[in-house]
Order: sequence, then structure tokens, then C-alpha cells
Amino acid sequence: MSVTISLLNMKGGVGKTTLAVNLAWHMHQKENCNVLLVDLDPQFNATQYVMDYKAFQVHRKKAGTVADLLIDQPSLDLRMKKVKNNPRAALHKIRANDGKRLDILPSELGLAWVVKNPAQMDYRLEKLLARIRDDYDYVFVDCPPTDSVLTTMALTASDYLLIPMRPDRFSILGFANLIETIKTFRNNCPDPHKVEVLGIVFTQVTGTSEVEQQAMDELRSEATKEKTELFSSRLKYSNSFIRSVRDQTPIFETLYAHTNPKSAVGKIADELKARIHHFSGKQHAPKGKNS
Ligand SMILES: Nc1ncnc2c1ncn2[C@@H]1O[C@H](COP(=O)(O)OP(=O)(O)OP(=O)(O)O)[C@@H](O)[C@H]1O
Ligand SMILES: [Mg+2]
Repeated sequence: MSVTISLLNMKGGVGKTTLAVNLAWHMHQKENCNVLLVDLDPQFNATQYVMDYKAFQVHRKKAGTVADLLIDQPSLDLRMKKVKNNPRAALHKIRANDGKRLDILPSELGLAWVVKNPAQMDYRLEKLLARIRDDYDYVFVDCPPTDSVLTTMALTASDYLLIPMRPDRFSILGFANLIETIKTFRNNCPDPHKVEVLGIVFTQVTGTSEVEQQAMDELRSEATKEKTELFSSRLKYSNSFIRSVRDQTPIFETLYAHTNPKSAVGKIADELKARIHHFSGKQHAPKGKNS
């Protein structure tokens, strides 16, 4: 059984991509799972995190991207027909160990077309993933920082949401909007258990300022009111994350990274599995070694 988790927060720069990519790497490398990372952001930062630009350009031309799979628009410079018949052809293999795969469905700037032309898009990602998700134990969707049809597509395609959040004033204000968006979506869903919120993960925590602590306390009380879990593990602010982007490696393989950021992703992954277990009522049983 496969689970699809979207990393969502309409606030920009909160660490969605960093956490999505590192969780995907962790689940593959450390938990021996088959993992798919879906880049649903026209900024295509997740794609840039794991592919160098030259490789991306070649892949885009020869194999296509998520934009090719989602968009029906012959006037666009997309390579649709060939790719549409076989979505697996658009996947890029990041790594493969012991027969387990870590793939990305890359994005590109052209995906922004969807935002300007949202008609009949809501279910396209869900339908696309239905064709490939059973190849994987986990599918992580990296969402853009805007409330657009791409958000609706991610919500429709997901079993769960994970909310990365920076502990600051803007995040507290943004949290209310985010919860409103999720509630509105769920109210319009036939399934009341569609897209459960696994919780909030604090990111870029410096641990050095009173105002940050106040923001965390305030968010904790807002989250409690909304019955939203706050993960006890968090990602501290660390230059190693910036280095890991530069080196296109997971944080736990980044040279000179301290133990804390290296182990934090694993701890967040443990909480994530426990939360999925809580919601699903039975242990999610990936085919990996921890099953
Ligand atoms: N824990 C961290 N410590 C230090 N820097 C971080 C951390 N997490 C992310 N960053 C850096 O912060 C910037 C924003 O992170 P990221 O791109 O993951 O956020 P995002 O929410 O995906 O942004 P967007 O909303 O634009 O998609 C990046 O330069 C990233 O390297
Ligand atoms: Mg991002």
C-alpha cells in the first residue's frame, strides 16, 4: 500500500522543499522504501535539489516533466503525447539501492500554465498518480507556496498533509488561512477522512530568541485549538541545509553537517510514521526492512 503526503504551506520559504526532499531521501536510504518525490512547484526547486541543470535539461527534452503529464495544450512547447502514454518515462531515478528506488517526477516553469488555466485540473494529479503510485511505499508531493489550483490538485491526490512552518509572526497569521483552505476542501469532499493533517513541523529554528519562543508557544495554542499535532522533532536552522542543496546530497550525507540536523530528519520521519499509524488504525506496512 502506498501513502501520498503533500508538504503544504502557502507561506513561502518555510522549508517545504528541504523537508520533502530530505524525507524522501531518508525513507529510501535509511528505511529501504520505494519512494517517489513529485515536484508540483513551477519554481522546480525540488528538481534542482536532486538534478544538476544539464541533466534536467536533457531529461526535460527527452523524457518530459510533470507539466507534460498534466497539461493538454498542443500550442505549448511540451512533449506531451509520447510522455502521456507512459508516465513512468518522465521519472528520473535519483538513486536505486537493493532493488529499492528513489525517483522524482520533475517539474518546470511551464507548469505555471496550470495556474492560469485551472479548468478541469482538480483531479489530474490524482489520476496521474493512480497510474504509478503502487510502485512506491511513499509519495511525497512538494507544493508551491501559493493557494492555486495546484494546491487543490495536491489536496485531491493526497492521503495526508505535513505542514512545515517557521516559528515567526507571519506563520501564525498564515496558519489560520491554511487551516481554512484545508477545511473548505474537506467540507466539499465526499470522504470526511480525506487528507488528514499529520501535523506541523517547525523548521529553521534558531533556539536563540525570545520572540521565536513566543511564536512557537502561540502556534502551539493555535494548533491545539484546531486539533492539529505539533511534531516534537524540529529542523534547527543550519547552514548544512544550504550546503546540502549546493552539493545535491541529503543532509545526512552532507560533509561537516552537525549531528543534530543529520538526525532531525530521521526523528521527523519516525513521528510521521507514528502519525500515519494513528490515522490509518493499522501500521502502514511498506515493503522495506522496517515493515
Ligand atoms: N533548517 C534550515 N536551516 C537553514 N536553512 C534552511 C533550512 N531549511 C531550509 N533552508 C533554506 O531556506 C531556503 C528556503 O527553503 P525551501 O526552499 O525548502 O523552502 P520552501 O518552503 O520550499 O520555499 P518556497 O515556498 O519558495 O517553495 C532555502 O535556501 C533552504 O536551503
Ligand atoms: Mg519549495
